[in-house]
Amino acid sequence: MLQLASQIESAADAVRKQWNGTPRAGIILGSGLGGLANEISIEAEIDYAEIPHFPRASALGHRGQLVCGSLGDVPVIAFQGRFHLYEGHSPQQASLPVRLMRALGAENLVVSNAAGGVNPRYQVGDVMLIEDQINLMFANPLVGVNDDQLGPRFPDMSAPYDADWMQLAAEIARSENFVLRQGVYVAMLGPTYETRAEYRMARTLGADAVGMSTVPEVLAARHAGMRVLGLSTITNVCSPDALSETTGEDVLAAAATAADKLLKIVRGVVESLPAKD
Ligand code: HPA
Repeated sequence: MLQLASQIESAADAVRKQWNGTPRAGIILGSGLGGLANEISIEAEIDYAEIPHFPRASALGHRGQLVCGSLGDVPVIAFQGRFHLYEGHSPQQASLPVRLMRALGAENLVVSNAAGGVNPRYQVGDVMLIEDQINLMFANPLVGVNDDQLGPRFPDMSAPYDADWMQLAAEIARSENFVLRQGVYVAMLGPTYETRAEYRMARTLGADAVGMSTVPEVLAARHAGMRVLGLSTITNVCSPDALSETTGEDVLAAAATAADKLLKIVRGVVESLPAKD
């Protein structure tokens, strides 16, 4: 067995010892969005320190635990805290949560993050459905020997985010009466926020939002054949010609203001899944 596969197996075994459910979906909760786990009927909470090969989550606003249970009737696992490349983690480590949820049986990934809005129409507190992504991290978790058991050598990326789920998310926002943006997410390495010139570049390249995560996880999820829904909370507006300072604390506070909208979408989309085969 290749090294990655054996690491995933031992991580999955550790989780199975504490929870014997089969998750329908795995949810990765980004900066300041961990409160979404309060919606889950919790059956097990597992600290990352108890999962073999899992690094500790050190990023601001990331708790570092796995919550297992159900959302409505649907079994889920939610990761309160993710691994970023800017923390020094490799792209493979950043995508371990996705590999783990897949090994436990999840075929669906819901991923959320905090992001800067480079689309001039966006406002702080908006939620954006990620319709496509640009990888400016210059790193990819699939570099190296491919394990054909996990997925193909050259995964297709023509539609990483599921169109039916995007439509469902849009319907939920409409029926709940809030604005849902839809756009392109560009991932940068971080940890610095961008300069004016970099935000301008991101916009010129076709991005609507800029962040420091998500792309490695989505690449691994598509490699594994998972269906993906991605949501960004716009925590700061990045107009290159009128840029104000951004701090990590501002980003967390803004993420909290959008949590309610995010929750409605995640709940609605996950609860549309069949609870069992
Ligand atoms: N840039 C990168 N990552 C971010 C930003 C940003 O402006 N805001 C929140 N995460």
